[in-house]
Amino acid sequence: MAAGRSKFSNKFGFIAAAAGSAVGLGNIWKFPFEVANGGGAAFVLMYLLFCFLLCFPVMVTEIAIGRKTQKNPVGAFTALGFPKWRFLGILGIIAGIFILSFYNVVAGWAFGYFVQLSLGNFDIGSQFGEYINNIGRVGAYAVVFMLATAYVVSRGISGGIEKASKILMPTLLGMIIILVFYSMTLPHAFEGIAYYLIPQFSEINFKVVYNALGQAFFSLSLGMGALITYGSYVSKKDNIISSSALITLSDAGIAFLAGLMMFPFVAYLSNGDMASVEGGPGFIFTILPGAFESIGPVVGRLVGALFFLLLAFAALTSTISLLEVPVTYAVDELKIERKYAVWFIALFIFMMGVPSLISSGDSYFFTNFITYIGNEKATSFIDFVQHVGSDTLLPLGGFLITIFTAFVWKKNNLNKEIETGYPGFKGTLIEKYIDFAISYLCPVVLGVIFLLTLLDRFFGVHMF
Ligand code: PHE
Repeated sequence: MAAGRSKFSNKFGFIAAAAGSAVGLGNIWKFPFEVANGGGAAFVLMYLLFCFLLCFPVMVTEIAIGRKTQKNPVGAFTALGFPKWRFLGILGIIAGIFILSFYNVVAGWAFGYFVQLSLGNFDIGSQFGEYINNIGRVGAYAVVFMLATAYVVSRGISGGIEKASKILMPTLLGMIIILVFYSMTLPHAFEGIAYYLIPQFSEINFKVVYNALGQAFFSLSLGMGALITYGSYVSKKDNIISSSALITLSDAGIAFLAGLMMFPFVAYLSNGDMASVEGGPGFIFTILPGAFESIGPVVGRLVGALFFLLLAFAALTSTISLLEVPVTYAVDELKIERKYAVWFIALFIFMMGVPSLISSGDSYFFTNFITYIGNEKATSFIDFVQHVGSDTLLPLGGFLITIFTAFVWKKNNLNKEIETGYPGFKGTLIEKYIDFAISYLCPVVLGVIFLLTLLDRFFGVHMF
């Protein structure tokens, strides 16, 4: 164990921080628009299955590797005795850098909406397109956001990350629950709920499958070493299984509630015409201001402003974990002092995000950045970064980590690490399931979906 490595102060601190990493824009911004993008309730079902059946075992593995080695995702593989696998950690760091570069931009939008709704500007919903192309303004919000992230990360693990997570996550959850109840009382709420909860299996095509898988990995912060890093700060006494279960449940639960809140709003604002619903990055930003307006000018303004403020905080607990990964790597492996590593890496990632910032219309080049083979429409830079960083690299990372655990590090070593905090683990049903998932289910399913996704998305080869 590295001398003096800081620790989360207790189990709740770790769970709150890991859930803080998991819960963010992925649940509240991305999940509803992916549901609307394709599949409706069928997407929701696929997403939940992936979270619990495939991602949960991957999460257990990541946390176990982190705690066993007390290292960053690159050093962890050396510490286990397999330096050749360091590439997997590097891949994770690259994915994290990609993700943070666009995530910071969207977090800035959310923060800007807090300002707009504080001013009572409900019209911002219909002006979303112009809003995100006011580069001076959204650019300034993105700067503020990256500064806030870097500041918390520079203060180290328990000082910043833990404290912020403990207060803000429960508040956000409470607020979403209240809004779910409110949205149910609106006219046409039922049409929205039906769209969200009654699956039409004819809606499932391969695109729905891989979008749901990418969403599950993204939402749970898996496949890039964030949980190896957080796992490295976990005490040997903690039960990795129950912690992972709680994190998965709270993350999937909050996404589910966010959808339950959104779709009655959507139905209300479209007079129940769910067929016209279209998902996209502007989804919550165009819908929610109108929904808040329906609450009333004063309360609606208050609720709306608070909602976007909490969303920005939820995003902050995620950006913190995204920045923490390359920083821990630079501190542990490159022996760079933490405060220099933080500011340098934050600046670098911010710069990488500039093309995303201007790719929603402002710059023609970045808005029409690339046309995948077999596609007519060009893909913007911000979408391209998401397709590569989260939808492709995260499931790939999950696939490789299960291959590593099953065939290189070996299942009994994983079991030993789990048993240190959960002595009765051996022989339980959950042990058998994790064994099956890590050795067979995840490698096969993740490997196959990964290959088919590459072909389908980037090369226009559609199998299903
Ligand atoms: N899980 C975060 C969210 O849902 C995003 C994230 C992805 C954070 C990967 C860390 C690592 O918003």
